[in-house]
Amino acid sequence: MRLRAGMRASVVGLAAVLAAAASAACAERSDRVDGDDLAGGAERDRAATTAPPGPDDGLAAEAVGAAGVGDPYFPDAGNGGYDVARYVLDLAWTPGSDGSGRIEGTTRVEATATQPLARFHLDLAGLDVAEVTVDGEPATVAREGERELVITPATPIDDGAEFAAEVRYSGVPEPLPNRADVLEPGWIDDGQEVHVLAEPDGAATFFPVNDHPSDKAAYELRITVPDGFEVAANGRLAERVPGEDGTTWVYEAPEPMASYLIQVVIGDLELVEEEGPGGLPLRHAFDTDIAEVARGATARTGEMVEVLADLFGPYPFATYGTAVVDDSLGLALETQTLAIFGPDTVLDESIQVHELAHQWFGNHVSPATWQDIWLNEGFAVYASWLWEEETGGLSAAEIAAAVAAEGGFDRPPADPGADHLFDESVYFRGAVTLHVLRRELGDGAFFRLLRTWLERYGGEAASTADFEALAAEVAGRDLSDLFDAWLRDDTMPDLDDWS
Ligand code: ARG
Ligand code: ZN
Repeated sequence: MRLRAGMRASVVGLAAVLAAAASAACAERSDRVDGDDLAGGAERDRAATTAPPGPDDGLAAEAVGAAGVGDPYFPDAGNGGYDVARYVLDLAWTPGSDGSGRIEGTTRVEATATQPLARFHLDLAGLDVAEVTVDGEPATVAREGERELVITPATPIDDGAEFAAEVRYSGVPEPLPNRADVLEPGWIDDGQEVHVLAEPDGAATFFPVNDHPSDKAAYELRITVPDGFEVAANGRLAERVPGEDGTTWVYEAPEPMASYLIQVVIGDLELVEEEGPGGLPLRHAFDTDIAEVARGATARTGEMVEVLADLFGPYPFATYGTAVVDDSLGLALETQTLAIFGPDTVLDESIQVHELAHQWFGNHVSPATWQDIWLNEGFAVYASWLWEEETGGLSAAEIAAAVAAEGGFDRPPADPGADHLFDESVYFRGAVTLHVLRRELGDGAFFRLLRTWLERYGGEAASTADFEALAAEVAGRDLSDLFDAWLRDDTMPDLDDWS
């Protein structure tokens, strides 16, 4: 994250080294400006010129699903009027000899209407849509704006009815445009290797989706690649089906997952399987060029799972592992059950712990809106301090004091603004907030709070207000002064005032 974290390292010693390391998780990628982005933009512009359905097409407004879920930071992310249960992506990927590869296939969206739907939206940015059906019947489809796929089924869907939309499409996916801290989310493909960094709203760059963490769903990922490539994705490898055009790799990810946590890695991969604590299957996917380094770097994964599970409760999913691509990402991402790193970030133990901790905080309990991002990042940073504390390093108190002494975390973690989702204040002031809360509650109540949070909201999305309410419930008293000061004041409070 910019140069500041590195400079700070010299000021406050180890704590800041840890802070700098963890903040590399949100460092900017500088290596991805190329001509392909222009092509992607042109493709999106073409899509946007397709006429949207007019307001006078006879549909009652109350039977039209909204174009966004109402996220305060990303108004067009997600859609209203339905709740997705499961996605099945069935995509064939063709490598590109001089740039990005192509995808072609079908995504099936199985959902339940939460209102009458004469028309509804999915998010899809770029790509060419060939056909859409709803429950097997051809539907009318239009593109609107940057990322709205507008579907009018042959027959309106009743409130409460289950339906399945199938979208057949193809093209060269392009990441979304850069927006401050949010970089260029999406499907990233250099023609020979693919990975996905979709947070916050880039899942729509490669499949039609209700692209918002408030609508979690199960996924089946069927990815066909030519022989000589391997695929790693969320969940469990269920089967590999050889075919004429290569092999279809089928991954089942049945546990509710937010769309920004999807991962598909395609490349020349070494797939490693191990057994973790309590028999948890650990599997990794390493680019073969750096497999040896990656294997060494991730050797403590099982121990990390064990330490975090002791603190927070059982690891929430059926499998875990790391994907390491041969591309300095400048960040890591906690994609569900298969966190992704570059050679730069995998070498940092605190970043590994950070991404693992997100499986509990962010993945199992997801943010209700993007304004709640500190529920992800503050918690994952604090978890890496707890790992230090548990494994003989500095105590969380020492790290919190050192970080607080630096000061300058003057963006309110509970409202950093859409362009500053990954601001260091979200990460570090967010983590110090948890430390202040721990001191206020005592260890017993604090860890009971974290475990209750995971039990109550696991598999769902929850908000900062939900967390504050639960904290007050566990504490048996009002804590709004603490949360107001630490999460909402423009300037960071003085830690010494809160001892
Ligand atoms: N959630 C990632 C983490 O573990 C950070 C992603 C940063 N993304 C970005 N566009 N800056 O911290
Ligand atoms: Zn994080």
